[in-house]
Amino acid sequence: MSRRNLHPLALAVLLERDVARKCHLVAELRRAWHAGELVSESAKAPDITTPGRPALPELVNPRQLPRRRLGSEAGRLSMIHAIAHIEFNAINLAVDAVTRYPGMPSGFYTDWIDVAADEARHFELLRARLAEAGAVYGDFPAHDGLWDMALRTRHDPLARMALVPRVMEARGLDVTPGIMRKFSGIGDHATVAVLELILREEVAHVEAGRVGFAIYAGSVVWNRKRPISVCYVNTCAAKSAVRCIMPRGARPGLAKMS
Ligand SMILES: [Fe+2]
Ligand SMILES: [Fe+2]
Repeated sequence: MSRRNLHPLALAVLLERDVARKCHLVAELRRAWHAGELVSESAKAPDITTPGRPALPELVNPRQLPRRRLGSEAGRLSMIHAIAHIEFNAINLAVDAVTRYPGMPSGFYTDWIDVAADEARHFELLRARLAEAGAVYGDFPAHDGLWDMALRTRHDPLARMALVPRVMEARGLDVTPGIMRKFSGIGDHATVAVLELILREEVAHVEAGRVGFAIYAGSVVWNRKRPISVCYVNTCAAKSAVRCIMPRGARPGLAKMS
């Protein structure tokens, strides 16, 4: 049996606009990869700047989003919708890591295919919570911060691993217990159960980021005062290349290069 190339299939998942079909394709990608039906044949990766997503939700500046208060039904649904939107973006981010960085060890692809499958399940669980109240994904506006970070780190897997799983997903681990307490406070125990599962599984995503980071990082020094800035020496791509990757607005860190 000739094995199919993983990367074009992952690209098809990334570009799929229909949310249910995207989730189905992710599950099939994971099945085929673990069944040994796919192989990573290095190819020049396409530079996808807009992933497949439905026409709605409308993407707006974060400052334009209304404050979410769980006291009302609209607030409860808005919060579930916001988390569903994060999970939907997380599918695209995980699949983007598979398509964008050819030539990585197969374990890197296993990790990010598994992460994509987890994110798709998380998204579907939250979509089901919305459906139980007669709402759908797209009913509320959302912002594009996660994908924006994907674009800003697309040139380098080290930057991607540093800033997406190791910072943004790790922050999710920190804030989720507080969100669970709020849902518990209004008696929405079904959503708490979904968030509990998500929290448990997201730990592995941060770990996948740590491993992906270690694959590339030769020497890493974190700036403890400003933990979202990182300086590193990329020993894989070019031993002498020293770069600093910082989110917009962050000031240069104090990290000492070794
Ligand atoms: Fe998730
Ligand atoms: Fe995740």
